Amino acid sequence: MLIRPEEPRDADSIHAVLAASFQTDAEARLVDALRQRGHLTVSMVAIDEDRVVGHVAFSPVRAESGAAGVGLAPVAVLESHRRRGIGAALIEAGLDACRSLDAGWAVVLGEPAYYSRFGFVAASQFGLHDEYGGGDAFQALELRAGSMPHGAGLVKYAAEFSMVE
Ligand SMILES: CC(C)(COP(=O)(O)OP(=O)(O)OC[C@H]1O[C@@H](n2cnc3c(N)ncnc32)[C@H](O)[C@@H]1OP(=O)(O)O)[C@@H](O)C(=O)NCCC(=O)NCCS
Repeated sequence: MLIRPEEPRDADSIHAVLAASFQTDAEARLVDALRQRGHLTVSMVAIDEDRVVGHVAFSPVRAESGAAGVGLAPVAVLESHRRRGIGAALIEAGLDACRSLDAGWAVVLGEPAYYSRFGFVAASQFGLHDEYGGGDAFQALELRAGSMPHGAGLVKYAAEFSMVE
């Protein structure tokens, strides 16, 4: 199993993995749109036997205060390859890549039982909330010491997120 940044030739395979992993192709189209507009901050693939079997994306988010961070979404692993740690490996590699780009903080909207293993905690603890009413499912993680924008208010994802719903 290899985890690496996406390459141009991976775009169709990533689309296929996302379309197969979610109920609709909205996430696949979201990643296409983010890529087209240069908003895929980090995009990592998991390769098994020369085939893309998983993917994670990070894109820019901005808080009401103006503070800029990254949002993890979406992450997907082909059903045939789940529960082997590939999702976790993709997320850890993606977070490391975000740190290398000097991103200070990350958010995710998802199951706390899953994302807490990476250090994500309820974003409300830092005075951050999301535009979807996610409550405790909206979580945040400090990537660089001292960078969490405490009390920064509403955190908005890239415009592509509202375009593909
Ligand atoms: C979420 C997903 C990427 C995890 O991929 P994976 O390779 O199976 O992940 P890992 O092997 O690292 O972790 C699997 C573990 O996470 C747990 N898990 C996965 N999704 C979970 C969820 N939504 N809530 C709670 N636990 C979850 C599994 O039960 C499993 O637990 P275990 O380690 O105790 O067996 C994969 O299930 C998937 O593609 N799901 C469909 C798309 C999706 O819902 N993506 C997330 C929202 S963007």
